[in-house]
Formats: sequence, structure tokens, C-alpha cells
Amino acid sequence: MDYGRQVTDQGYAFDNANAQAGDHHRALADLLDAETRAHIEDLIDLPGKRCLEVAAGAGSIASWLAEHAAEVLATDIAPQHIPARPRLTVRQHDIVTGEHLGRFDLVHARLLLGHLPQRLDALRQMVAAVAPGGVLLTEDFTTGPGTFVSYAPDPVTTGALSRYMEAHLEVLAAHGSDRQWGHRAPAAFAEAGLTDVRLRVHGGSWHGGDPGCRLLLASLPQLRDGLLARGLTDDDLALAAEALMDPRVILSGFLTLQTSGRVA
Ligand SMILES: C[S@@+](CC[C@H](N)C(=O)[O-])C[C@H]1O[C@@H](n2cnc3c(N)ncnc32)[C@H](O)[C@@H]1O
Repeated sequence: MDYGRQVTDQGYAFDNANAQAGDHHRALADLLDAETRAHIEDLIDLPGKRCLEVAAGAGSIASWLAEHAAEVLATDIAPQHIPARPRLTVRQHDIVTGEHLGRFDLVHARLLLGHLPQRLDALRQMVAAVAPGGVLLTEDFTTGPGTFVSYAPDPVTTGALSRYMEAHLEVLAAHGSDRQWGHRAPAAFAEAGLTDVRLRVHGGSWHGGDPGCRLLLASLPQLRDGLLARGLTDDDLALAAEALMDPRVILSGFLTLQTSGRVA
């Protein structure tokens, strides 16, 4: 099925129809799945439960949930990368404008709300999808407090990586992305009536060739136009791409802010 391009200048800056989408989602899974799974297991006993995975991407977490829970619904505006599995239903759905999806014991969305200008509408939809006694978990990136490039072998590489990351963050912000959202999510959860609201933070260094750097490498061609519009050249992008695969490079990786809350 052709899901077409769902995004405009505002909203999610990437596109699952893009040639880099496979690498992008693989890098995300390698970077984040172990922590996401452990967190979900801390929050809920999956056997017998109904789960909703919003903005499932390539479905690595939805597939894992389907191995353990009774029933899983995975949604995305562009769900073509989510594999078919027993107990897993896949549906094209926009969490901002789409219809109510029913009630679930677990609702999870990773790296969605921070991207969406209409994040509070999406949050309302997700809260409405949590059954009594159920739990909502959302996860969003934020940048760490220090400099992005912890170590590079020479000043030229340091400069190329720093300029690239600055422009990368500007391009996402121009699409309506808010990298501080994760810090405000606990307040938004409490205001939405959720109880037992908790924030957990996960992160660390990203070395050249690691999943975090592979994620940036897959993002780079997708954001190329915006990066060039902010003064970078194709030579700068080539240098940054090379550095992202250089094992000597150490970056201060994005932090993942994970917010959970329950419906009484
Ligand atoms: C950064 S990816 C994260 C994918 C997956 N959650 C993960 O962490 O591996 C964001 C996903 O959100 C989806 N998305 C963007 N806007 C959406 C919307 N309004 N409703 C549902 N999905 C959306 C995109 O198509 C993409 O698959």
C-alpha cells in the first residue's frame, strides 16, 4: 500500500517512505529497545494484557509486545515497516486527528510527542486510550547539558560535527519539534489526570559507529535540504558522516526522558 508522504513543513521531519527509513528504525531499535523493554516490564505484567503502540515505526517494540501480551494494536501514519505477527494488528492512524482507538492496559509512544506541534492533542488521545488500572509510557529525546562533541581526533572534525548538530536541531525545531518537551511531560501527565506520574532518564556516550551515531547518519540525508539552507555544504555533511562512523569519536548522546502515569 502507498502511504504517501504524510508530513508537511510542520510536524514529524522524517518520512518512513524515505530510502534511509530502514537504517533509521534499526538504529533506534538498537539504541533504545533494551531500555524500553525493561521499563515496560517494570510497569506492567504483560501476559493477558491489551497494548497500544502508537507511532510504532518499524514495529520492534510492537513485535516484542505481541510475543508477551494477549493483543497488540500498532499504529503509525506510515505503518509500512511494521511486520505481520500473530496477536499484532497494524493500522494506519494519525494520533492527532484520528478516531478513538479503544481502551488498553498499556499505551506506549516513543519519540513521537516531542516531534509534534499538536503534542497535547496527541497526549489527550493517548490518555483516553488507557483503560482503568492501565499505564501510559512516553519517551522523548532531549540534548544533554554539556557540549555535543566530547572527543574528536582533530579540530576540523569537532567543528564539522558541532555545526552539523546545531543545524540538525534547528531543522527539527523549524518543523515544530520541542526538545524540552520531555521535561514538561510529567506536568502534562498530571494535568491530564494521570496518577503515579514518574520520570526516568536514560542515556550515555555515543561512539562513532554506535547505534546513536548510525541514527544521526540515517537522519543526515533526510534533513539535507534544511541543513544546506542553514549554511552547511555537501562537503561539511560528508565530513560529519565520516566522523559519525569513526570509532575514535565520542559524542554526548541524547538523553531519553521517559514519563509514565496511571489511570486510577
Ligand atoms: C522517530 S520515529 C519513532 C518510531 C518508533 N516509535 C521507535 O521509537 O522506534 C516516529 C514515528 O512516528 C510516526 N508518526 C509521526 N507523526 C505521527 C502521527 N501524527 N500519528 C501517528 N504516528 C506518527 C512516524 O511515521 C514514525 O514512524
